Amino acid sequence: MDLKTMRATAKEKMKGTCRVCPICNGRACAGEVPGMGGTGTGEAFTENVRALANIKLNMRVVHDALQPDTTVEMFGQSLKTPIMGAPITSSAVNAGGAITELEMVTALVKGSQLAGSLGWIGDPANPSMYEDGLAAIRTAGQGIAIIKPRIDQQEILALFKLAEAAGAVALGVDLDGAGLVTMALKGQPVGPKTEDQLKELIASTSLPFIVKGIMTADEAVKCVSAGATAIVVSNHGGRVLDHTPGAADVLPEIVKAVKGKITILADGGVRSGADVLKLLALGADGVLIGRPLIVAAYGGGTEGVQTLMEKYTAELRAAMILTGCKSLKDINHEVLFKGK
Ligand SMILES: Cc1cc2nc3c(=O)[nH]c(=O)nc-3n(C[C@H](O)[C@H](O)[C@H](O)COP(=O)(O)O)c2cc1C
Repeated sequence: MDLKTMRATAKEKMKGTCRVCPICNGRACAGEVPGMGGTGTGEAFTENVRALANIKLNMRVVHDALQPDTTVEMFGQSLKTPIMGAPITSSAVNAGGAITELEMVTALVKGSQLAGSLGWIGDPANPSMYEDGLAAIRTAGQGIAIIKPRIDQQEILALFKLAEAAGAVALGVDLDGAGLVTMALKGQPVGPKTEDQLKELIASTSLPFIVKGIMTADEAVKCVSAGATAIVVSNHGGRVLDHTPGAADVLPEIVKAVKGKITILADGGVRSGADVLKLLALGADGVLIGRPLIVAAYGGGTEGVQTLMEKYTAELRAAMILTGCKSLKDINHEVLFKGK
C-alpha cells in the first residue's frame, strides 16, 4: 500500500480531527481530547516527541551487522518486531467515526498481527466498544487487552475473563487512566490502585500482567513487587495529565531501577524505526505506537496498519545496520551520542 495515498485518504476521512501533519507532534491538535491531541496545553504529547528528537545516534559502519535480527520473544509469543500496536478506542469521538469502532480496532489488531506483532485493545466507557476490541482479538487470533482501572475490582476481573476467552495472550490495566472523568460520568468510576489491589488482579489470571502508565522509578519497583510481568512507561500519549515529561526522559531512571526484573515497554511519540532504536537503547524491551496507526487504520484499514508497522520495522533494521547492532540485544547505550 502506498503510504502517501493512505495519508491523503486518512486526512479526508478524519474530517479535521487529525491534520495528518508531516511530523505528528501534537502541536496542531494541542488540547484536543476528545480528539487526537494531548490534554490541556498539549505539551505532554509534544514532550514525548521532543524527548526522542533530542537523542542523537552514534553512526557506526565498520562491523559485520549485515542482516540485523529484529525478532523478539514477548509474552510467550515469537514476534518479528519489538514494535506493537497500542490500545486505541473511541473511533467516533476521537477520530471522526468515518470507520466504525469495530473496523478501527480490527485494522489495528489484525494489521499488527499480519506484521508479525501484537495489537492491543483498550476499554472505554461504552461497553460495546470493549466487545469490538474482543472481536478484533478473535479475528486476529491473538492480542492484548488493557482494562481501565475501574474502582470495582470485580468489574475488572469480569472483563479479564472475557479477554481470556477471546484469546488474549496478556492482560493489564492502564493505571494512567485513573483520573478520567469521562468514565465516572458514564457510571464507571476509575481510580488508582494500591500494590495489594494490583496483587489481587495479578492473582486472578494465569496470563502475563501488564501495568500501563508508569512514569517514575518508585512505581516501577512497586509493579515488580506486586508481581507484574511488564510495565509500559507511558504518559498515555499526553492525554491524561498535562506537564508530564516525555517517556524517553523518564525511561533511564526506570531502567536503572527495574531492568531485568520486569519487561519494560515504552510509548509516546514514536514516529520511526530510529525512534524505536532510541527507546531500546535506553533499555526498553519493546515499544508501542498509537496515533500513526490510527491514521493508517483510517487511510488503509488492516493493510494500512500492516504496511506502516512493516515500514517502521524496516527502518529499525536499517538503523541497526548503521549503528552496528546484529540483534535487539545488541542495542544498548553505546549507540547513543553522549554530547559534545
Ligand atoms: C485516540 C486515542 C485513544 C486512546 N485510547 C486508549 C485506551 O483506550 N487505552 C489505553 O490504554 N490507551 C489509549 N490511548 C493511548 C495509547 O495507547 C498510547 O499510550 C499513546 O497513544 C502513545 O502515544 P502516541 O500516540 O504518540 O504514539 C489512546 C490514544 C489515543 C491517541
